[in-house]
Amino acid sequence: MRPVEIGEGVHWVGALDPQLRVFDIIMKADHGTTYNSYLVTAGDRAAVVDTVKAPFYEEFLENVRSLVDLRDISYVVVNHTEPDHSGSLDRFLRDAPNARVVCDRQCRNFVRNILNRDVDPILVQDGDTLDLGGGAVMRFVHAPFLHWPDTMFTYLEKQGILFTCDFLGAHYCDDRLFDDLVDDYSHAFEYYYLVIFRPFKKYVLEALDKIEGLDLRVIAPSHGPVLRSDPRAYMEKYRQWSSRPLPGEEKSLLVFYASAYGNTAALAEKIAEGARSEGARVAVMDVAATDLNLMIDRIEAADGIAVGSATINGDAVEPVWFLLSHLATLNLKGKVGAAFGSYGWSGEAPKLIAERLRGLKFKVEEEPLRVNLVPTEEDLEKAVELGRRLARAVGAGSG
Ligand code: FEO
Repeated sequence: MRPVEIGEGVHWVGALDPQLRVFDIIMKADHGTTYNSYLVTAGDRAAVVDTVKAPFYEEFLENVRSLVDLRDISYVVVNHTEPDHSGSLDRFLRDAPNARVVCDRQCRNFVRNILNRDVDPILVQDGDTLDLGGGAVMRFVHAPFLHWPDTMFTYLEKQGILFTCDFLGAHYCDDRLFDDLVDDYSHAFEYYYLVIFRPFKKYVLEALDKIEGLDLRVIAPSHGPVLRSDPRAYMEKYRQWSSRPLPGEEKSLLVFYASAYGNTAALAEKIAEGARSEGARVAVMDVAATDLNLMIDRIEAADGIAVGSATINGDAVEPVWFLLSHLATLNLKGKVGAAFGSYGWSGEAPKLIAERLRGLKFKVEEEPLRVNLVPTEEDLEKAVELGRRLARAVGAGSG
C-alpha cells in the first residue's frame, strides 16, 4: 500500500499483513494486521516513528523513499522495541545513514540487544521535546509497561497527533486506514485490549491521565486503523475497561471444573451450594465450555476460586492448565484458592492444581478434596463443607 497522509507533513508509510491469523503465538488475528510506521516531514528535519516487522522492510522502505531522500532522515523514534516494530531497524539505520535513534533509557538496552551493536541513541525522558525545525516539535510521553517496560508515546504538537505504538491499536487490516472509513472493528479493538493491556490496567490508567490534557486530533497507533473520528472515545473505552470493578456487598467465589463423567462436576455444584449457604455470591463454570477471557475477567474480580479436574494419565486435564497458564499476569495475592476432583486410581490432579494455585500466590489452606470415582453422600457432604469454609475464608457473611 502506498503512503497515506494522516496530517500536515505526516504520512503513514507502514505495511499491511492481511494474511496473518496468529500473532505472537497466542493471539488470534482474524482480520490480519498492519505494521504502522509514520514519516514526519513537517519540519526541516525528517523523522520516522517506529518501523515494521522485518519481512515487510522493502515495502516500508519504498514508501519512505517515495517521499524523502533517505539521507535527509535525521531521526528514528523507537516507541517500543518488540520486533514487529523494530525488526527493520537495523537495515533502516544502514540505509538512512544520518538517522539517529530516539528512545528512552529502558528502550536503549533493548535496542542494543536487538541490533547487537551500539547506536548512540538520543535518550529522551518524560516531557522532553525534539525540535524538527519549521515549528514542528515532538514531545515524548513516558508510558512504561504498555506493554513492555520500554514503551513511550510521541506527540507531534502542532498537528495534534499522538503516536502510541501498540496502545489503542488493533490487529485489523483494512487499506482504508482511518477509523471512520473502515467497517466496525470494535470486536478487534476490544480483543486487542483484553490480550495485550488488561494485565497492565494500572499503567493504562496512568498513561490515559498523562495524555488527557493534550490537544488530540489524531491518535496513530502501530496496528490497525488510525483514530481521527473521535480519538477520545477510544481512550474512554480503555478507561472503562481498566477501572477496577466496584466491590460488591457480597464476597464472591468461583468454582471451575473439568469433568469426564460428571463426578467432578457434582463436587463443584456441592461446593457452590455450601458457599452460597454462607452468603457468598457463587458462579460455577465448566472450563472446557467457557470463554477464556470471561473466566479471566471473573477471576480478577473474585475473592476466591476452587478448581476441580478429573485425573487423566496422572495429570489435570488440558483446559484446566490452559486456564491456569493465563493467570500469571493478574494480581492474585490474597485471593483464596482450593482444588478438588474425582479420580479413578491415582488422583494427582487436585494436588497439582493446588501447587499451581500456590505458585500463583493464591492463599491455599485447604487440603485438596479428592474423591474416588462416584462421590458418596459422605463425599458430597465434604464438598458442601469445603464450600462453607471457602465462603468464610473469603469473608462471606462477615458483614
Ligand atoms: Fe506490536 Fe508489542 O508490539
